[in-house]
Amino acid sequence: MEKHSYKLNYLSYSSVDELNEADRELMKAARKAAHMAYAPYSKFSVGSALLLENGVVVTGNNQENAAYPSGICAERVAVFYASSQYPGVKVLKIAVTAFSNVFVVNSPVAPCGACRQVLSEYEKLYRSDIEVLLQGQEGKIYRIKNVSSLLPLAFTSDDLPQE
Ligand code: THU
Repeated sequence: MEKHSYKLNYLSYSSVDELNEADRELMKAARKAAHMAYAPYSKFSVGSALLLENGVVVTGNNQENAAYPSGICAERVAVFYASSQYPGVKVLKIAVTAFSNVFVVNSPVAPCGACRQVLSEYEKLYRSDIEVLLQGQEGKIYRIKNVSSLLPLAFTSDDLPQE
């Protein structure tokens, strides 16, 4: 038997004031997207903003559905849009934020497992880290170097039959 362990390194900032201007703007774009979310069921509005290598910023927000599992998270809306409109263009960074009208979202949003999986696909495809910036409604921000560090032991194309 061998014992293994995994350590996640990330940075935290006490407010957006500690970010550089580009990151602040990206978080602002995510916040604007959150305000356009369609989240009548959870009342938890999420926005995401991706910075692509060509300088384009793509945003997304959660889109819910009366058939709950048919809804989709903000991160996947944005990254699928990016891949559909800018195939082959690296994703450099993603900012995610959320707010609710029924409670204060005071800790950074944690992307769900499916979003981590989907983002990690593009990280592998472009062989390039996607930096992750997470914030709640306000306050504390987490900066994580890449998506793969948020998804240890990930299932990837390497696990499928190779030609
Ligand atoms: N949600 C996101 O869009 N992104 C996240 O990172 C966490 C959760 C959405 C899914 C659902 O519409 C609502 O938030 C509550 O789970």
